[in-house]
Amino acid sequence: MAKKITQRVTWVGKVDWELTHFHGDELSTHRGSSYNSYLVRDEKTALIDTVWQPYDREFVSRLAEEIDLHKIDYIVMNHNEIDHSGALPELMRKIPGTPIYCTAKGEAIIRGHYHEDWNFVNVKSGDTLSLGSTTLTFIEAPMLHWPDTMFTYYDGDGGVLFSNDGFGQHYATESLYNDCVDASELCYEAMKYYANILNTYSPIALRKVNEVVAMNLPLAMICPSHGVVWRDNPGQIVERYLQWAADYQEDRVTIVYDTMWQSTRLMAEAIAEGIREASPETEVKLFNAALTDKNDITTEVFRSKAVLVGSPTINYGLSYAIDGLLGMMKGLKFRKKKAAAFGSYGWSGEGTKLISAALQGAGFELVDDGIRALWVPDNDVLQQCREYGRNFAKAL
Ligand code: FEO
Repeated sequence: MAKKITQRVTWVGKVDWELTHFHGDELSTHRGSSYNSYLVRDEKTALIDTVWQPYDREFVSRLAEEIDLHKIDYIVMNHNEIDHSGALPELMRKIPGTPIYCTAKGEAIIRGHYHEDWNFVNVKSGDTLSLGSTTLTFIEAPMLHWPDTMFTYYDGDGGVLFSNDGFGQHYATESLYNDCVDASELCYEAMKYYANILNTYSPIALRKVNEVVAMNLPLAMICPSHGVVWRDNPGQIVERYLQWAADYQEDRVTIVYDTMWQSTRLMAEAIAEGIREASPETEVKLFNAALTDKNDITTEVFRSKAVLVGSPTINYGLSYAIDGLLGMMKGLKFRKKKAAAFGSYGWSGEGTKLISAALQGAGFELVDDGIRALWVPDNDVLQQCREYGRNFAKAL
């Protein structure tokens, strides 16, 4: 069902309660998602973004209930990943000549995806599109998180920023607005989204969000392409982004490990005890990487000031779960976080060194060379792990 959210803006997107994974299996979406699309109606009418391809017919059919499709004068594509552009082919079959406003990179991406010669109009930052008494202004935001990304600012109804993925969350809700949903769920999903999708580009995000803030635009709402519309104090998510993009960390240590016969787990728990003894106010959390959702772990790493990664040495290498997680952590480009490695071994024992090298390569600052234990740690070795944890905490 379409939902009128201001006098001239109507939400016409799709809530996807069934979505459990996104980007293939790269990102978990425990609370579903939505693909938000908006109609902006003045003397002229613009449609902002579409929805993911599996919902293309449903989207176009519902859109046709809301408006005669031929009365859509412009289509604005802020970003052309398939979750937003996927319904374009179905829509363009109905209104083939309608101009599509997007960046030059956006046109290239649409052409690369759909191989159609539609009526593209390339726009740059500062370009405007008059809808009559009100105007859309385009603000390029490349690499937030694709090269084509832009925001569209609408100056009617108190000011509305259509920010696409920026400020979004994978969060299904029928309630639509940020003040109508569980605040802690919303905060977690917004952070998880940032940590797993935008953190790689944090320096760019910091510059762009500061640039938009400096424009001092009236802002009644921020309308992202996923999750809630920020209508209650929309500045709160902008503030959070400014914090998250500036090497965010809390007084928190995340210990991630994998274990074959419990030795590395015992080490992890002893290290955690040592950290708590030396720094009782620091929140320490442990995760078995083989049993815990990888994106929930990376979100915990995002929040932490330091991370300890442990794996037994297996086949002269690391466990599958730890190896994969280290690869993800490298791609996410966490900054200004400290780290160290640990793990048990039986003979070759290079796991700890391999983790240290991977952490360093991922941009973490190594506290030391880590700690390892031969076979099953006895009480003496566990005492050494506690002492290691105490020293680790003091080094933060
Ligand atoms: Fe929601 Fe980058 O697509």
